[in-house]
Amino acid sequence: MGTVILGIESSCDDTSAAVIRDRRLLSNVIAGQEVHIKYGGVVPELASRAHQQNIVPVVDSAMKEAGVSRHEIDAVAYTRGPGLLGSLLVGSSFTKGFTAALGIPMIEVNHLQAHIMVHFIQSEISPGPAPTFPFLCLLVSGGHTQLVVVRDHHSMEIIGRTIDDAAGEAFDKCAKLLGLPYPGGPHVDRLAREGDPLRFSFNKPRLEGFDYSFSGLKTSFLYMLRDNVKEDPAFIEENKADLAASLQKTIIDILLNKLRRASSKTGIRQIALAGGVSANSALRAAIGEEANRNNWELFIPPLAYTTDNAAMIAITGYYRYLEGYFSSDDVTPLARMYF
Ligand code: KG4
Ligand code: ZN
Repeated sequence: MGTVILGIESSCDDTSAAVIRDRRLLSNVIAGQEVHIKYGGVVPELASRAHQQNIVPVVDSAMKEAGVSRHEIDAVAYTRGPGLLGSLLVGSSFTKGFTAALGIPMIEVNHLQAHIMVHFIQSEISPGPAPTFPFLCLLVSGGHTQLVVVRDHHSMEIIGRTIDDAAGEAFDKCAKLLGLPYPGGPHVDRLAREGDPLRFSFNKPRLEGFDYSFSGLKTSFLYMLRDNVKEDPAFIEENKADLAASLQKTIIDILLNKLRRASSKTGIRQIALAGGVSANSALRAAIGEEANRNNWELFIPPLAYTTDNAAMIAITGYYRYLEGYFSSDDVTPLARMYF
């Protein structure tokens, strides 16, 4: 009958539950939280309250959609961290109660490793075969930007990371300066389709090794807007699409420049993309062109598995289940969690 894992994700502002049987995804239900939009960012206390309201109905729908009863579940995997502590607590407390009641194991999962593990999900929307080991993953999300060498399902090494803002933060903070709603990344993506990516240029960091930096770009974007708005108050409104396209191109150039170097230094030519920013249409196109130029074998996740979801927690939990990596019930969530 296979191994059935229920996955729970509650690290930020999406409450999600998914059911997987072996590698085959049976359901992946996500409840977003509209409440943050008017504040222009995630408000932690409101996020935990919304998780509390959502978690039971979301788990219930995931099980119904999967056609799985609670007695068929072999283990529950949940996000232990990194993330907002109050949000993580809702998922971990739910998991503790649920597994204790059913007498089944619980499995802690690192949210960032889980983003990478989406490449092992089997479903109608999953592209062909999963990568083989080792592969190099560009993990770009709202909170993290990392280059990771993935040696097996459990062994991953971060060879480059951002020293300040994440790529998603750069999208969101600059989008806010353009007057776009939170999270700004998808709005920049949409606007940029109508704009000229070569119209404006911004500072690019000059960092050694594979580390990233995006705070300089944000400052350069801010100053450029401020100087131009002084001359022409309608500057942003009149140039929004070109600004979005040029900003997006700069972020993508920065991301791909280090990825190219990391691939040539490590000799790894299987390249994967993961995390919320990997939903960006221009990034997906640009990495495709880069792959053709460099003869990479490229793995791009389906859009549904790019931003936060519990399918990624369930698939990671499945591989941990096979190794018997279970957690005791005194394990606490971690706002910062390393691997
Ligand atoms: O992985 P994720 O859902 O949450 C974190 O773990 O951080 O990533 C969210 C980030 C946000 O910064 C959001 O603006 C960005 O992903 N994002 C995008 C797009 N869709 C989501 N950025 C650029 N283009 C998109 N289409
Ligand atoms: Zn995430």
